[in-house]
Amino acid sequence: MISQELRDKFLTFFKERNHKIIPSSSLLPTDPSVLLTTAGMQQFSLYLSGKKDPLEDFGSRHLASCQKCFRTGDIEEIGDDTHHTFFEMLGNWSIGQDEIGYFKEGAIQLAMDFLVGELGLDKKRFYVTVFRGENGIAKDEEAIDIWLKHGISREKIIECSAKDNFWGPVSSIGPCGPCSEIHYDRGEHLGCGRPDCGPNCDYCKRVVEIWNLVFMQYNRNEDGVYELLNQTNIDTGIGFERLLSVLNETGSAYETDIFEGMIKRIEEVSGKKYENNKQAFRIIADHTRSAIFLVGDGIEPSNIGQGYILRRIIRRCVRYSKMLGMTNDFSLGDYVFEKYSSVYNELNGSKERIYGIIRNEEEKFEKTIKTGLAILEKKLETIDSNIISGEDAFDLYQSYGFPVELTEEIASEKGFKIDKVSFLEALKKHQDLSRAGAEKKFGGVGKDAGEEGAKLHTATHLLHAALRQVIGSHVQQMGSDINVERLRFDFSHTQKLSSDEIKKIEELVNQKIKENLEIKKEEMGLEDAQSAGALAFFKEKYPETVKVWTIYNPTSGECFSKEICAGPHVNKTSELGIFKIIKEESSSAGVRRIKAVLIK
Ligand code: SER
Repeated sequence: MISQELRDKFLTFFKERNHKIIPSSSLLPTDPSVLLTTAGMQQFSLYLSGKKDPLEDFGSRHLASCQKCFRTGDIEEIGDDTHHTFFEMLGNWSIGQDEIGYFKEGAIQLAMDFLVGELGLDKKRFYVTVFRGENGIAKDEEAIDIWLKHGISREKIIECSAKDNFWGPVSSIGPCGPCSEIHYDRGEHLGCGRPDCGPNCDYCKRVVEIWNLVFMQYNRNEDGVYELLNQTNIDTGIGFERLLSVLNETGSAYETDIFEGMIKRIEEVSGKKYENNKQAFRIIADHTRSAIFLVGDGIEPSNIGQGYILRRIIRRCVRYSKMLGMTNDFSLGDYVFEKYSSVYNELNGSKERIYGIIRNEEEKFEKTIKTGLAILEKKLETIDSNIISGEDAFDLYQSYGFPVELTEEIASEKGFKIDKVSFLEALKKHQDLSRAGAEKKFGGVGKDAGEEGAKLHTATHLLHAALRQVIGSHVQQMGSDINVERLRFDFSHTQKLSSDEIKKIEELVNQKIKENLEIKKEEMGLEDAQSAGALAFFKEKYPETVKVWTIYNPTSGECFSKEICAGPHVNKTSELGIFKIIKEESSSAGVRRIKAVLIK
């Protein structure tokens, strides 16, 4: 079965069962607390939490979609059989229960009808997982009974902890609930042979998850407490690529029509065989596809937020292409456009623009590599031993952005080794220094400016979030400065703001001040902060542990802004007074500058 057929089958199946088909939303979410779209339910979160009525906006409580998603948490796993950065998620929803709404029974029935009835999968190869009960929430006996009624034998119904079977929320607050996953046994030949092998096996991918059914009954509030929602919802998600590969009995999606063309082309261009270089081939194919989709949704390479993810993806792709001895080969991207232009309209007619942006970033990276290479080669000529010191490797990394893995590869081709221990020491020393520097720099501003500084800091976060809501999520902070009198904020945007836009921004900030939102601080690792959706506030390097500030409504739990920043901030927005923009001007090409004050 080819990808288009599966997509059509799913959407038609749910359409025939009274579901409204909703187009995929962008990879750039409207919710400022989340960096990228990671699940189909994200565009429906206000409906799932009961704040909006789906009947009013969609004319139906039953929805289905094929959603573009992006998960960065799995980036190191790319190359294996089951993970992708960009992927599609098929999902169906029943929001709120009334005479037509469905819950566990209906969701399981629909899942079985689609997988077994429509697609012809053998239910003897299913395992299902259910929530075993934890944190005061009971074991899901109801789901166990329903699965038994559908002929799944008791030993194939596996009880799992909250880690595997309690889904959500997407950021730290919002709708969530216990879930039940359908896993599929792909066959003994892919297994580890252990007697306890099954879903979530640590040793092999014989059994893979194909569909997650979430029984949304809770809302996780600011204090981490799970409150019962006033309504129940069904939220489901199928990993599209996984299901496609299961249906075709291929080891992975790379052997399906989605990637086949690219894999063949890489073989032609590199002269190497996929079978012998699976990981590199898969990384190149996966990253080519995801870079195109990210740029397609308006993201450009940069050092922060979504732009940084894109930069990392493109550079990683170049690096693996080089490892296979390939030069940039744009015809690879053509396969992506061929497959998806008829599915996702934003790819139509934008090929040149997308290629231009990607090519530009590749060229930048090429230059980096070239400079680094010349220096490395010179270095190699001058050293007597066959060991490159950690300081030299670090210098290449620090001054020229030359990845240490690349230094290692080139060095080993020429019979050299890197002193990895001293490289790591140099890296750590640098990180300690930059942490101290960052604390001084970012911590100092507000402290020196005292109480007023804290207020202006909070106002800056409100302004940043308001800009992204009013003029678009392409807005990224390019600089910020606070003194006792005013804040100054530089951001990426090409046009002068109209007086109407300025008015809207002021109004939104003042409304948030009036709503008396609360500000909370959490400390966490940089990676965790970014996956929690925190916007990076400064362009400089971050320390390993960062402070994340969230401005949220304590009653509804809704988050207005989440950013990494050293602070300090006030506790409540009502402390700020009235926010007023006093100037809007150009700062440099593509960057605008706002100066604003707080009036008591
Ligand atoms: N939200 C759930 C998930 O992402 C089901 O779609 O797995």
